[in-house]
Amino acid sequence: MTAESISPVKNPLPKATLMETAQVLRDVQIPMIAKGPIIRRPKVVAASERLDLDGRAVRRTQTLANKYGRGPLMLNIPGRDMALILDPDDVHRVLEDSPEPFATAETLKTSALKHFEPKVALISHGAERAQRRRLNEEALDHGHPIHHMAATFMPVVKEEAKALVDQVRGSGGTLDYQTFIDAWFRVVRRVVLGDSAREDTELTELTEKLRADGNWGFFKPVDKSGRAELLDRIQAALDRAEPGSVAAFMAQLPKESDAEPAQQIPQWLFAFDPAGMATFRGLALLAADPKTLDAARRQIREEQEEAAPMLPLLRSTVLESLRLWPTTPMILRETTTEVEFDHGVMPAGTSVLVFAPFFHRDDRNLDFAHRFAPELWGRPRTRKDWPLVPFSAGLGICPGRHLVLLLTSNFMAEILGHSELELQSHTLDPESLPSLLNNYGLRFRLH
Ligand code: HEM
Repeated sequence: MTAESISPVKNPLPKATLMETAQVLRDVQIPMIAKGPIIRRPKVVAASERLDLDGRAVRRTQTLANKYGRGPLMLNIPGRDMALILDPDDVHRVLEDSPEPFATAETLKTSALKHFEPKVALISHGAERAQRRRLNEEALDHGHPIHHMAATFMPVVKEEAKALVDQVRGSGGTLDYQTFIDAWFRVVRRVVLGDSAREDTELTELTEKLRADGNWGFFKPVDKSGRAELLDRIQAALDRAEPGSVAAFMAQLPKESDAEPAQQIPQWLFAFDPAGMATFRGLALLAADPKTLDAARRQIREEQEEAAPMLPLLRSTVLESLRLWPTTPMILRETTTEVEFDHGVMPAGTSVLVFAPFFHRDDRNLDFAHRFAPELWGRPRTRKDWPLVPFSAGLGICPGRHLVLLLTSNFMAEILGHSELELQSHTLDPESLPSLLNNYGLRFRLH
């Protein structure tokens, strides 16, 4: 089948050979999907770390960029138009021109997310998407580094971090990932749904089960009763509207007819999981870099009287953790019309992949590619800068990013304030960091 017979486009973009397409599938897409796009599979993450699979994915993309230049590069997949973005300017363009003509509701993403949130903004389009996106932005206070309810979240963060440190001290002093993430999810449930959800691990488990189904996308039927149960439980939290929770704030916001509040919240519960991963990796970065750790501790002390500390260096540490090891490595869009690029036209209905690790770790262009460089985040990054897009960018940028950074930085601050951390599981050189850091295998000694 020729390119012309798949799509009627007259001036098509460069197209990878069948061999190159197979190499992209083998080195980029299959390893990312095997790790679990919606919920990680710890054994595959461990193997990917050991085999440097994330490094291999970046090198494969570099090889194609060396050959094809700006791209975008159409992959050679019979019956399916898929493009790989290779140029920094095109990253900005695709993300800024979302959702038209680059829709966030891409086919593969939709097949995964519909398992637990079929009406979430991210896989909606047109007027429905606009309403759902607006509701997310308002509830998450997306324009403000410090959520207007931050003063009610901080005591929760402090209590849970202190309880975590006490628990670890009381059981031999080793902090592993499971212990950490359990404590983190207590914070998340309390902040999002209210204090009464603190022990509701069943809800987290139900979310995880449906996310595990989501990993299989089209290949697994939707568990409709599980999904209905999750959405009912979330609706119940909205109805309870416990004072101090984001659910309570969302419940009293004016809502447009298609906003579907309960369907937006599974995305939050899901996405706080990678926030936990990034935080744990962030602690590892600090443990490996005593100078930055000292500077972070100074900031913690300077801001300790604030009701909701800003903690810029800890925020930058989380952002660096996400640059080095993106938790959304594949940002996907789908063209709603033909789109013209400098070197050709992309057909309507093309899945467009921005492979974030390629841009974050491109050592052909970035001297900081593999080192811990929190200074990168000292000022807001703009379209003129190299694209570092852990939270995406443009109109589809993560509306939860500030809330994530507020909660993660303060959770880290509380842990660091109560203890000295020694990284036991890994030897990390902040000047030359691995392509993946397996959060499940990280272990600290708390003093
Ligand atoms: C480290 C943690 C997180 C990272 C790295 C992250 C990153 C991202 C990225 C890259 C996207 C764009 C995805 C795409 O276009 O396909 C996104 C979307 C989104 N994120 Fe986050 N996110 C995180 C946590 C959160 C949290 C905790 C919330 C809510 C409390 C949240 C709410 C959302 C929502 C609602 C969207 C969809 C936005 C839309 O439809 O335009 N995220 N996030």
